[in-house]
Amino acid sequence: MSFLEVRDLCLDVGGFELDRIELKAEKGDYLTLIGPTGSGKSLLLETIIGFYGPEKGRIILEGKDITDLPPNMRQISLVYQDHMLFPHMNVFENIAYAIRKKLRDKKQIEAEVKQIAGVLGIGELLYRKPATLSGGEKQRAAIARSLIVRPKLLLLDEPFSALDVRTKEKLRKMLKKAISEYSTTVLHVTHDFEDVWALANRVVVLRKGKVMQSGDPESVFRQPSPDFVAEFLGTNVLKGKVKALEGKLTVIEAEGLEIYSSDPAEPGEKVAVSIRPEEIILARGVMESSARNTLKGKVSGVFKKEHLVVVEMEMGHAEIKAVVTPTSCEMLGLEPGREMHAVFKASNARIIR
Ligand SMILES: Nc1ncnc2c1ncn2[C@@H]1O[C@H](COP(=O)(O)OP(=O)(O)OP(=O)(O)O)[C@@H](O)[C@H]1O
Ligand SMILES: [Mg+2]
Repeated sequence: MSFLEVRDLCLDVGGFELDRIELKAEKGDYLTLIGPTGSGKSLLLETIIGFYGPEKGRIILEGKDITDLPPNMRQISLVYQDHMLFPHMNVFENIAYAIRKKLRDKKQIEAEVKQIAGVLGIGELLYRKPATLSGGEKQRAAIARSLIVRPKLLLLDEPFSALDVRTKEKLRKMLKKAISEYSTTVLHVTHDFEDVWALANRVVVLRKGKVMQSGDPESVFRQPSPDFVAEFLGTNVLKGKVKALEGKLTVIEAEGLEIYSSDPAEPGEKVAVSIRPEEIILARGVMESSARNTLKGKVSGVFKKEHLVVVEMEMGHAEIKAVVTPTSCEMLGLEPGREMHAVFKASNARIIR
């Protein structure tokens, strides 16, 4: 049995349903839950913590069925996007609040608060009121308050979404350290794929209250199930047919392009090929490289996205996206109309079915 098991969970809130959700996590796992807005991510967290009673299904935590327990008996903590600290209490009191019921000894309380505050880098802020803190500091205080009780499961609902890119990066590192020191199992809802890459060992994709795909980030991002998940993750997907086998490579004819993949398939088989935008190298001319695929096309759009640039290209009958740094964008003179080559390895052209 897994540490956390959500079995066949159904919730009906009138107009929206969580539909037969299955989730599993081992102790110490870091699960990220992603999906479009309104797909039921927050509702799923709120059902796991016990704010909603499911119509059907069970929630098992460390071998115990907690489905019918009140939220405060589940040993689960939840951190929201907006920290919800008590405004009239200083940071110390906010963090200490939850353990005051358990611990009587003042020295011990102080030691526990200082320990978690130290891990999260807010040791200097303990005697300030929340209103005087930056967004990132408030979130660290909120995380400290949730972790100090050593929950069996920590639920995070978009904890970093109101923060800037640099602060997010810093907080990810601190959170990672804190959860490893407290050996916490985490279920983290996010819209930011960076959270998945930086923190998670598992990712679950939700759509309209249903689990569409789950697995380790590497396999979900590289081999998303076609259509919805692939599109949601921003993967290039080309649909076609296996034309031939060349040695260990599979040659696929897809949308007017010929693509080499190192994944096995049968000649004549209908397949789709998935290529991550980050795996594509752009070159002006034909480049000598060990990468098996070089496709020629024309830039159709260039868009800034956080600290990177997304380049859209027309290639064959397909539109292919690549991601480059602003510097390479400038060096390559990427602008609509420019002819470009997209270069990628056969091992990065993954066959999906
Ligand atoms: N108490 C409720 N009663 C009725 N409908 C609800 C209730 N809570 C949420 N919903 C609806 O359920 C759907 C899923 O909501 P939820 O908040 O879980 O989405 P989400 O995936 O967290 O979205 P976001 O990414 O925008 O936070 C939405 O359509 C929402 O309007
Ligand atoms: Mg939500």
